[in-house]
Amino acid sequence: MTAPARSRTSADLIRAEEPVLAHNYHPLPVVVARAEGAWVEDVEGRRYLDMLAGYSALNFGHRHPALVEAAHRQLDRLTLTSRAFHNDRLAEFAERLAQLTGQDMVLPMNTGAEAVESGIKVARKWAYDVKGVPADRATIVVAADNFHGRTTTIVSFSTDETARSGFGPFTPGFRVVPYDDLAALEEAVDETTAAVLIEPIQGEAGVIVPRDGYLAGVRELTRRRNCLFVADEIQSGLGRTGRTLAVDHEDVEPDVVLLGKALGGGIVPVSAVVGRREVLGVLNPGEHGSTFGGNPLAAAVGTAVVELLETGEFQHRADTLGAVLRDGLTRLVGRGVVGFRSRGLWAGVDVDPAIGSGREISERLMREGVLAKDTHGSTIRLAPPLTVTEDELLGALASFEKVLAV
Ligand SMILES: Cc1ncc(COP(=O)(O)O)c(C=O)c1O
Repeated sequence: MTAPARSRTSADLIRAEEPVLAHNYHPLPVVVARAEGAWVEDVEGRRYLDMLAGYSALNFGHRHPALVEAAHRQLDRLTLTSRAFHNDRLAEFAERLAQLTGQDMVLPMNTGAEAVESGIKVARKWAYDVKGVPADRATIVVAADNFHGRTTTIVSFSTDETARSGFGPFTPGFRVVPYDDLAALEEAVDETTAAVLIEPIQGEAGVIVPRDGYLAGVRELTRRRNCLFVADEIQSGLGRTGRTLAVDHEDVEPDVVLLGKALGGGIVPVSAVVGRREVLGVLNPGEHGSTFGGNPLAAAVGTAVVELLETGEFQHRADTLGAVLRDGLTRLVGRGVVGFRSRGLWAGVDVDPAIGSGREISERLMREGVLAKDTHGSTIRLAPPLTVTEDELLGALASFEKVLAV
């Protein structure tokens, strides 16, 4: 008989996972049992500063009181209806999310990949119904080194062999161009193009921030060439970069914005496609859906998330603390750090491979009580909750310095 979870150590639990869980992740060897704000605690009671924040799903920290209260209140009233019926929480969620993002309509889904899939379907439908692309000829232009999720259609246009290899055959209809290259985009777009789908900042690729003017350029090009600009803000959006959306840094309004992660407040999976009426309006009953999309619990938590962002407080924190992060990382350049890119409270830090792989650095940081995760070789991604304090951030930077000096 297996022992109750309470009496198992972290090592026991890690060992117990091995035979029963698919090996599609390689987690750091820490077993989290509790969390509050920017801090998590493992089974043995050791505390760690969370500098990853669930890949930005925890922008408001663990168990933000306003979000937990909204969830509790809703749990006691109504949790699920399906979209076969209306529920009394969905209208307000859609109204406020559309208002926050400067868009007209909302298509609620659950995970990020579903929002991307939904965005692709909407863009294709728009191409056929509005632009007049011949049936089944629509193309979507995407960027190299993208990360939009893990479904078969999405990995069809990934350039990461690990994500694709062994999962074909792939969905046709995508063209890949280099990121941050307007000339390549200009060449790839033609009369079949439904949309240009890009991340305003490429997160998984290592927090790749495009040159100033790229996003405005994509907006100008897509408008001129009569195709949609679909911005995947699933990781970059909702306060992370110091603005509500990363495209706000260039005052750009895409036709469609994909949101996820932080929209669920770290409590429930909530994603959404938000867009202009001429675009989202192409969907008719029966053409798309999700049993859980727009459920009242998700809508209640999502509304509470939007309410937090309406104050501007979190965007402001990300902006001002982002400067602290940038200054701290600048001081580490040449002392173990070979370069970094950051915007707001989000950084991709390239560590000298001679000091250790990204994995090794992450494990050393873990032993110092800081949780972060590597991406692509020797790059460490830092994305603390936007609730992190300046002292906590400086503490994490001091741990980083210590780890690099080893
Ligand atoms: C930009 C972007 N799009 C989509 C996704 C997929 O989201 P999910 O893991 O919720 O399916 C991610 C996840 O990391 C992401 O960073």
